[in-house]
Amino acid sequence: MALNLEEIARLLEAKGQRQYGREAVSQLAHALQCAQLAEEAGETPETIVAALLHDLGHLLAPERTDETPDAQQQRDDLHQYIALPFLRGLFAPAVLEPMRLHVDAKRYLCAADSGYWDTLSPASKRSLELQGGIYTDEEAQRFLAQPFAAEAVRLRRYDDAAKVPGQRTPALDHFMEIAHSLTGA
Ligand SMILES: [Fe+2]
Repeated sequence: MALNLEEIARLLEAKGQRQYGREAVSQLAHALQCAQLAEEAGETPETIVAALLHDLGHLLAPERTDETPDAQQQRDDLHQYIALPFLRGLFAPAVLEPMRLHVDAKRYLCAADSGYWDTLSPASKRSLELQGGIYTDEEAQRFLAQPFAAEAVRLRRYDDAAKVPGQRTPALDHFMEIAHSLTGA
């Protein structure tokens, strides 16, 4: 069930060519842009790696060729949980928790930041409803009380911005070296 760093890199390189949902970038381009934004913002190595891997669950899930893109948009794929069992042996909660919480962070930001919902792409607005919708005040407080919730909220901002077609980024190797520094492997 566990992946090593080489397998993660291979997965990103091979299956990362898939389109990132309904956005105009590939999964790999999205991951690299997200990690780049985290690094430029001065995040810790753990948060940078969380940004790189936050959607790895999309690549681990089998591709649904039996469903139209519209049908796929009609269900919540729970991708934020899929990668975690594969990564638990490699990374600390400082990497895994922001990944796990990055979808909930969208629900939180919609409640906490009145302008945030407007900034979401149509696909992201649609998935928000499937993911449970905007948090109530009480749910927002409960979310924030969790360890690494603040990192998840910042990751979410990078995630939302990491959809620029043609954006230049460092190569995957650069971020895999940062991942390597965290595992000691
Ligand atoms: Fe994402």
